[in-house]
Amino acid sequence: MSTDTNPGQLTWDDQEKIRQQFDSGPYPRIPLEAFPKDDYEKFFTHSIVTAHYLRHRKVISPEKKLILDAGCGSGYKSLVLAAANPGAKVIGVDLSEQSVKLAQQRLQHHGLAENVEFYQLSLYDIAQLGLEFDYINCDEVLYLLPDPAAGLQAMRSVLKPDGIIRANLHNSYQRSQFYRAQSLFKLVGLMNTAPGEFEQGIVLETLHTLKSMTKLKEETWERGNMGRHSPEKLEEVLGANFLLLGDKGYTIPQLFDYLKQADLEFVSMVNWRHWEVADLFQEPDNLPLFWSMCLAEASIQERLHLYELLHPVNRLMDFWCAHPGMAVAGVDEWDEATWRTAVVHLHPHLQFEALKETLINCIRAGKPFEISQPIQLPTLAPVFLEASIAACLLPLWESAQPIQAIIERYRQMRPVDPVTLEPIGETQAFAAVKDLLNRLDAFLYVLIESP
Ligand SMILES: C[S@@+](CC[C@H](N)C(=O)[O-])C[C@H]1O[C@@H](n2cnc3c(N)ncnc32)[C@H](O)[C@@H]1O
Repeated sequence: MSTDTNPGQLTWDDQEKIRQQFDSGPYPRIPLEAFPKDDYEKFFTHSIVTAHYLRHRKVISPEKKLILDAGCGSGYKSLVLAAANPGAKVIGVDLSEQSVKLAQQRLQHHGLAENVEFYQLSLYDIAQLGLEFDYINCDEVLYLLPDPAAGLQAMRSVLKPDGIIRANLHNSYQRSQFYRAQSLFKLVGLMNTAPGEFEQGIVLETLHTLKSMTKLKEETWERGNMGRHSPEKLEEVLGANFLLLGDKGYTIPQLFDYLKQADLEFVSMVNWRHWEVADLFQEPDNLPLFWSMCLAEASIQERLHLYELLHPVNRLMDFWCAHPGMAVAGVDEWDEATWRTAVVHLHPHLQFEALKETLINCIRAGKPFEISQPIQLPTLAPVFLEASIAACLLPLWESAQPIQAIIERYRQMRPVDPVTLEPIGETQAFAAVKDLLNRLDAFLYVLIESP
C-alpha cells in the first residue's frame, strides 16, 4: 500500500503515465460523427471574436487567423474551434498519439481537415512548430501538468502580441471530494500506472457496495447522480474523476500567481457572470454596507477568491489571459463624443436566420424577444427586449450599423413619449439607445467599436 496521500504531486516522468492514460482512453469519448450543431453557446465560447473583443474592444474576422488547440485530446474542441472560426487555421497538439489520430479522423469526417493540422507533441515543445498564434485554447489540460506556470510560459512564448490564451484549472474547493477519492485509490495501489478496466471495476464495485451514507459515496456518486449514466459514459466519468492521473486542484490566488510567473494578464473568466459575488446575495443591488464597501475596493482577483470561498460550485477556473498592458476601456467608460462615433455589430454567433425570424415574429406579435436564448452562458436570468426596442436591432442581422442609424430607427419606432405624448427628442433617443446597447454589450450580444 502506498503511503503517499497527495495524488497531485507528479514528477516529469509521470508525464509518460499521463500519455499512456490518454492513449488507452482518449478524451473526450464523443462519437466522431457528433457535431455541435446549433450549440451557439459552444461557438460563442470558442469564437476568437468573443475573446478578442473582451480584450481589445475590436471586432476581428477569424479569416486567416492561427489557432492552437494545446492538448487537443480526441479533437472535439478542435472541431468546435474550426467550426466557430470560419477561415481560420487550427493546429492541434497532444502528447497522446492515439488522441491525435482520433482528432485527425474527426476533422476529416466533418470535411474540415483542410483547415486543421495535428501533431503528437508536448505542450512544452510547441515552440518547435516555429509558429505564432492569434489564439490558444488549452482546455482541461493545465491541471494535469507538473507546473501550470511552465505550461502558461510555453504558450506565452508562441502567442502573438495581441493574442489571447484560454485555459483552465480545476478548483480545489469545488472538487475536494474527488481529490479525497483519488488519495484513497492511490493509497490502495490503483493509480500506480495508467488505470484500466481492472481499476475501473474496483472503483465501481467499491461505490456500489459502500453504504449510501458513507461520505465519499454520498458526495461523489450520490450527489452526482452517477448511477444514471450508460456504462460507456460511466467509464469516462470514473476515469475523469476518481482515477485521473495527474489531476490537481487550485485556488484563485494560485491561478493569479501562475499568471504572474508566466508574465500574463488575466482578461476575464469565460463564464464571468457565474463568478459575481453580488449575485450570491438575496438583493444584489442592495448589499449590506460592509459587503458593498468591501466589494467596491476589491481587485478582480479578490472578488473571484471571495466567490470561490462563498460558493465553490465552479469545477473549472476557466479564464482568458493575454500579454500584459493592452487592456482597452469598456463602453461603460466612454464619453458622449466616443459613443457618437460608435459602430454596432451583432455577435457573429447570433447572426443566424432562425433567430432573425424569431425576432420578426416577436415584433409582429408585439411580444418580448429573448435575445439570450441561444447564448445563456454570460447571464443568470433570461434577457428579454420589448418588441419595439428589439425592432431597432433588426438591421444588425444584415450588417454592422452606426449608432446614429439605430437612434433614427428608435425615433421612428417610438416617435412620442407614451406618457406625455410629447415627441421624443434626439437626446432622449440617444440616451435610450445607449442604455440598451450598454446592457447588451455586458453580455456581448452586441459588440460596439469606436474607430
Ligand atoms: C482531459 S483531456 C482534454 C482534451 C481536450 N482539450 C478537451 O477539452 O476535450 C487532456 C489532454 O491533455 C493531453 N496532455 C496532457 N499533458 C500534455 C502535455 N504536456 N502536452 C500536450 N498534451 C498534453 C492529454 O494527452 C489529453 O489528451
